[in-house]
Amino acid sequence: DAASERKGPLNGKKALVSAGPTHEAIDPVRFIGNHSSGKMGYAIAEALHQLGADVTLVSGPTSLPTPNGVKRIDVVSAKDMLDACSLAFAEADITVMSAAVADYTPETVADRKIKKKDTHFTIALKKTTDILATLGARKQAHQLLVGFALETDNELANAVGKLEKKNLDFIVLNSMQDKEAGFAGDRNKITIIDRNHQQVTFPLKTKKEVATDICDFIIKALGFRQ
Ligand code: CTP
Ligand code: CA
Repeated sequence: DAASERKGPLNGKKALVSAGPTHEAIDPVRFIGNHSSGKMGYAIAEALHQLGADVTLVSGPTSLPTPNGVKRIDVVSAKDMLDACSLAFAEADITVMSAAVADYTPETVADRKIKKKDTHFTIALKKTTDILATLGARKQAHQLLVGFALETDNELANAVGKLEKKNLDFIVLNSMQDKEAGFAGDRNKITIIDRNHQQVTFPLKTKKEVATDICDFIIKALGFRQ
């Protein structure tokens, strides 16, 4: 399944996809993390590959099989994910960051299991580096950068804010308004917003169908540049 034998609109393009949660260690047996199955990012990686791209998937801990033909790099923490994505981004024509990265990480990691003592317990946290914003600041003219936004309220305004702050070409807003959509299930309801603040809202679909919609958008966006 060499790239040269595959024919598709993304032939010869290199793609980077981040997926899944990150786990931030508290001690050897505990972590802080987000809910995320990784299904959305894995579906995007698979779809990009099927369209002819050479795909690197930087994945946090998930229980999913590696999509056929995709190069997978496993990471655990936000710091590991930043390092792996930074390297791959330098080569990437298309980057889609769908990972649910932890926003905070413990200030210190205990080297032994913390034993329970008092009735209350506090963990000091510090902010992680925003991977997507870091890549956005480095983005070159030929590179296409796509982010996600997960919001519970003020959806559109928040998503547009992230699009601009992180220097994205477009952002995929994952709507949590629909009970059936979200991290646990197999379906998502998305709105894609581009740099001109044009919006396209899609009906509730399977994550595989959503991946196809996102890839169609990527192909169109690349087409406008040629
Ligand atoms: N993201 C990232 N690195 C981080 C945090 C977020 O790369 N440390 C990326 C996510 O992969 C996603 C986008 O940024 O593509 C938006 O993530 P989200 O959690 O919705 O937004 P934040 O900017 O973290 O803001 P907040 O959680 O406060 O809404
Ligand atoms: Ca966040």
